[in-house]
This record gives sequence, C-alpha cells and structure tokens, in this order.
Amino acid sequence: MTILRIYRSEGNYDIHHLDIKPETKLLTLFEQIRTKIDSSFAFSSECRRGICGSCAVKVNGIPVLACKAEIGSFRSGVLRIEPLNSAAPKIDLLSDFEPFFRSFSRFPEFPPPDGGLTRHCEPSDALRCTQCGICFYSCPSVASDDGFAGPAAIVKAERFLSDPADRLTRPQLEAAAENVYQCVKCFRCEEYCPRGLKPEHSVEAVRRRCLTLPEDSLGTIHTKALFDSIFHYGKINEVFTARYIFGFCGSLPLILSGIPFLLKRRVRIRPVFSKNIREIRQLLEADE
Ligand code: SF4
Ligand code: SF4
Ligand code: FES
Repeated sequence: MTILRIYRSEGNYDIHHLDIKPETKLLTLFEQIRTKIDSSFAFSSECRRGICGSCAVKVNGIPVLACKAEIGSFRSGVLRIEPLNSAAPKIDLLSDFEPFFRSFSRFPEFPPPDGGLTRHCEPSDALRCTQCGICFYSCPSVASDDGFAGPAAIVKAERFLSDPADRLTRPQLEAAAENVYQCVKCFRCEEYCPRGLKPEHSVEAVRRRCLTLPEDSLGTIHTKALFDSIFHYGKINEVFTARYIFGFCGSLPLILSGIPFLLKRRVRIRPVFSKNIREIRQLLEADE
C-alpha cells in the first residue's frame, strides 16, 4: 500500500491509499487519478519520454520527472507530491515558471562564438538542456537571492562567454561576474539534472573567464579577496573579505550589522587561524 499526499490548490493535500505496482511511473499514476478519481486534477506533461521537461514535480522534496520516476524507486511508502516551484504554486501540480524563464534574460546578448567552447559545455550540452526548471528551483542561492540568474541560465550563457577570440567587452563580462558569485557550490543542480548536465561546472568556467577582467573589476577583486583570506587565515574571514571587496567605508554597514552577533558571542573580533595554516599556504603556493 502506498500513501500519496498530493498538493492541490490553496495549500490543501489530497490523500490516496493505493495498491500500486513498483514499476508504475508517477505520470501514469497522475493520469489514472485524473481519469478515475478526480477529473479536475491538474498537472503538466507532453512527451512522456523525459525529453520535454514539462512534468517535473517534487516528491518528498526531491525534484524528479514524473514520466521517468517509478513508484518503487522511492524509499518511503508515503509520497508527498508537490509542484516544482513549491514556493509559488499556480494550481495543483502546475508551477509558476515565470521567474525561471526570466532568469535567462539576466545575461546581455552575446555574439555567438566561432568555436573554442569549453570541455564542460560542448554545444550539445547547452542544447541538451530541456529547461525543466529542476536546477533553478532546487538552488538554495536562487531561493535566497532573486538577483542570481541561477544554474540553467549560466549553462546557456557559458558557451557564449567562452569565446576564445576575446571579442567580449568588459561590460558583458562584468554582467556575467554579477551572476556567478552567489553560487555556494552545493552541487544540487548537478545531482538533480535529469539530463546529466553540469551547471556548477559552467558557473566555475564563467568565474574563471571573469578573472581575465582588469584588477579593479568585481570578479577579480572577489576572487583575490577569498584567495588572500585563505592564504592569511587558512579560512574565509568575513571581515577581511568585506574590507577587501568594499573598502573600509563601504564595509562599515556590513560590520555594524554584525554587532548583535558579536554581543551574542556568535562571531569573534580576533581573527581565527586554521591549525593547518602552513600546509594550506604550501598548497596555495604550489597551485599558483
Ligand atoms: S551548485 Fe551553485 S548553481 Fe548549483 S544549485 Fe548549488 S548554489 Fe545553485
Ligand atoms: S540544466 Fe538540467 S536541470 Fe537545469 S533546466 Fe536544464 S535540463 Fe533542467
Ligand atoms: S512528459 Fe516530457 S519530460 Fe516528462
């Protein structure tokens, strides 16, 4: 017996107790529920073959394609099924994809390169993205910062940013730099992408490309701040990096906002050094 808790509109859940064969696809189950139990049940699907990306939903918080996922593949016998964009569901299992599609406009138009695409993003990689939205709606940085373009937009942008002919202008690269430093490298995008793409690698490739910017640009300053902090302390020191990036006056508001944490002894005034500082420095020097 499998228990299904399926999200319906306005925060309600339908509960079904069903005997289901383990090999039954989630999408088949949705169709059966709509045919036999509730004709008003709304969900999205097109190709039924894992190609169009339109049937993505969350099961117990994990994003999957309903046409590919078999009931027996879930460890639990209780399945909580919700729309992919569970923060702003539209109706039943239909998600609001407007924020996702808007993310692609964060990068300015780039001229198509003649070649020289990086090994992480062959042309077929960007073209293989089905725009299912799974990486976007699983990304913690997207959830916490709506200024972040998100993984799928960066996969698409990377092929244009990897132009070996150096025709990209500084404003174009700076726009890219503004979109890649929010990634916290959790790798959820790569873990969940049903096409096996590597959005985090694209983020990293764009970051490396931004390092070709002059010393006074955001991407370069950001990277140098992190590098120097790790070199000096063996770890990231927030006060040091804030002062490095924003200067003393610019970082004052950030430093002042830390005072409550200081009073609660959650942060320390004196910098903390890593115990392995010597080995860390040797590693960094060897990598230069
Ligand atoms: S690795 Fe970066 S882009 Fe990918 S989900 Fe995590 S924060 Fe988002
Ligand atoms: S990169 Fe993968 S998870 Fe993200 S939208 Fe494209 S296919 Fe979906
Ligand atoms: S229906 Fe197209 S990917 Fe599932």
